[in-house]
Amino acid sequence: MDQKLRVAVVGAGIYGIHHVDVYNQNPAVELVAVCDFSEEIRAKVEALYKVKTYASVEEMLSNEKLDAVSIATPDHLHLEPALACINKGLDILVEKPLATTVPDCEAILEAAEKNKVRVAVDFHKRWDPAAIYTYNQLNEGEHYPIRGYMNMDDTIDVPTKWFKWGNSSDPISFLGIHCADLMRWYMGCEATEVRAVGSKKLLPSMGVDTYDSVQSMITFENGCTWLLENSWVLPSGFAKANDSRTTILTSEKYIRINNQNRGVEMVDSDKTHTPNVFFFNDFNGKVVGFGAEPINDFVDSLLKGSDFLATGYDGLQAAKITAAIHQSLEEGKTVAI
Ligand SMILES: NC(=O)c1ccc[n+]([C@@H]2O[C@H](COP(=O)([O-])OP(=O)(O)OC[C@H]3O[C@@H](n4cnc5c(N)ncnc54)[C@H](O)[C@@H]3O)[C@@H](O)[C@H]2O)c1
Repeated sequence: MDQKLRVAVVGAGIYGIHHVDVYNQNPAVELVAVCDFSEEIRAKVEALYKVKTYASVEEMLSNEKLDAVSIATPDHLHLEPALACINKGLDILVEKPLATTVPDCEAILEAAEKNKVRVAVDFHKRWDPAAIYTYNQLNEGEHYPIRGYMNMDDTIDVPTKWFKWGNSSDPISFLGIHCADLMRWYMGCEATEVRAVGSKKLLPSMGVDTYDSVQSMITFENGCTWLLENSWVLPSGFAKANDSRTTILTSEKYIRINNQNRGVEMVDSDKTHTPNVFFFNDFNGKVVGFGAEPINDFVDSLLKGSDFLATGYDGLQAAKITAAIHQSLEEGKTVAI
């Protein structure tokens, strides 16, 4: 390879550190810098990865020559660093959601078009082998989808212990956005209307002012209707930090996915754990799994000039669905998209 892609990561918390790991191990990449507000995280990153760190995106962008940046700041804080990178002419990979509102997503895409840079979104669930199999099954043969069900839930630890920003997001922006993207990808068309109901009781009682759970009915252009359930209040004792299942009924096939139990159980004195062994795994000093693949594919696409597998446009279209869910929750009626 003649020249390495010069990459930086903004936000090296729970998930951003995976971006740091993957870039650090990709031979086509030079991990140039990492930016995080947290002094503790910066010190850890410097010690572990021997990479320069910054507390400010602007300072990093003025000091370093970069080709691309990953943005893994909290859900509601993607816009500002995304625009700063785009305005410097850098291609970006943004963690899901692209942004928490449709106008913010549009602002990112407009700036990208103006600056002639490319935007990818890390909708990593598309890289899950179970999702790939389902996508292929749906696109094979002459059948048509009739009905779908998807849930994606987290344990209550996620909004109450993992994040300091639970108040500023919710199970729809954090989890539902993955589902909205998967549904669009599976269906090959857009959603037309949404009706949602939700409850806000348990988390507010614990000081996190957001939805415990939301149920949404989503209709797609092909007539297929989906029931989507997302919650942030599974009991802490659950076998994994999240639960997820999908069923799809078509005119010829019935597909059921259990994303919760991926076939491995590990019992310790605490409880039975069902780790997602396909997501991230350390093997021979290298991070492997479908969590790493979209980050490596971002690099490949930039080096080869090929299309991203999940684009900024996908981020915008998924955000339209989650925005309609939010609107339906507020107005108590069906919302057309
Ligand atoms: N945690 C998960 O399991 C998970 C999984 C998939 C995707 N994601 C996505 O990854 C993103 C980050 O989530 P997380 O769980 O890593 O959150 P986190 O709170 O653990 O980390 C976010 C980090 O961003 C830093 N930060 C915020 N604004 C910044 C800025 N402008 N400049 C520099 N640093 C900044 C914070 O200091 C923090 O360390 C979110 O969009 C989330 O939806 C998270």
